[in-house]
Amino acid sequence: MLLRRAILAASHSEAVRRAVVAAPGTRAIVRRFVAGRELPQAVRVARELADRDLYVSLDHLGEDTADRPGAAAMRDSCIAALDALAEAGLTDRSEVSVKLSSLGQALGPDGTRIAAENAWKICAVAAQHGTTVTFDMEDHTTTDATLSVVRELRAEFTRVGAVLQAYLRRTLTDCQELAGPGSRVRLCKGAYREPASVAYQEAAEVDRNYVRCLRVLMQGQGRPMVATHDPRLIAIAGQLAASAGRTAAEFEYQMLHGVRPDEQLRLARGGATVRVYVPFGTQWYPYLMRRLAERPANVAFFARAVLTRR
Ligand code: FDA
Repeated sequence: MLLRRAILAASHSEAVRRAVVAAPGTRAIVRRFVAGRELPQAVRVARELADRDLYVSLDHLGEDTADRPGAAAMRDSCIAALDALAEAGLTDRSEVSVKLSSLGQALGPDGTRIAAENAWKICAVAAQHGTTVTFDMEDHTTTDATLSVVRELRAEFTRVGAVLQAYLRRTLTDCQELAGPGSRVRLCKGAYREPASVAYQEAAEVDRNYVRCLRVLMQGQGRPMVATHDPRLIAIAGQLAASAGRTAAEFEYQMLHGVRPDEQLRLARGGATVRVYVPFGTQWYPYLMRRLAERPANVAFFARAVLTRR
């Protein structure tokens, strides 16, 4: 966890960014985690996953958009992704994931309203195409605003999904509030660097809270989305679903593109619903850094990139 926090902190340095972007192995590692720079590449990956009985959440990479035109462009890219999925006949197997900060949430006092308006337009197009949107969760300073936007959107677009992070101390309460009929909640461990005042710092504490939160979601009336690659939590999710009387169609596993693909297929072949989060686009740096920070083997790549920088 310490190493992870150090990498997430270093990732904000411009020198580190330049070193990682220029490192010889970067292109290969980006290819592993990101479906491509352009939408057609992402749709092709979505098609391949659908052909293997997997479901998809497409994410046009982008966050912390710095101005209104940028936020509008992100909105239009998400809409273009939905249109492309519809044209490819893939909307019964795919949705999109969106970060409110990409839609303008960080633009000062009006940011949340701007992001909410952009989000509304995306949800409307998703609904026209018979699919939906899940709003990613970012750092804890945005949690309240993001959940309130999701609540507003759900009044009109009932299938809109929220993400909750098990590392946050507040999340058990949020799960209790969001476990009602029709809700869709993706539960993940959490990928940002958070202070001890708001977040558990030890991996074992995060895992314990994940199980507590998942039990609430499984016993609730919504659709739990179990976003983890952790084999122990995946096994526990199956047990919690069974003891809550849920069928395989009444919850889903979610994993990231490029992470444990064999496990994705194994679960799907066993009858589970498995959705793969497929990011694409050119703004891959922050996403890649969060993925590198998650795993010791990836951390070695990061260290080599920084230490051998020219
Ligand atoms: P953990 O990190 O303990 O990993 C368990 C095992 O999975 C590892 O031992 C390894 O085998 C494998 N693994 C995990 N990450 C890997 C990686 N990067 N490379 C290679 N192997 C890896 N977070 C957030 O804060 N907000 C969000 O909105 C989302 N959204 C989201 C959607 C989906 C579909 C997923 C799967 C995850 C997210 N996350 C997220 C990220 C999440 O919070 C978390 O950081 C990662 O999923 C890693 O945590 P695990 O639960 O996989 O466990």
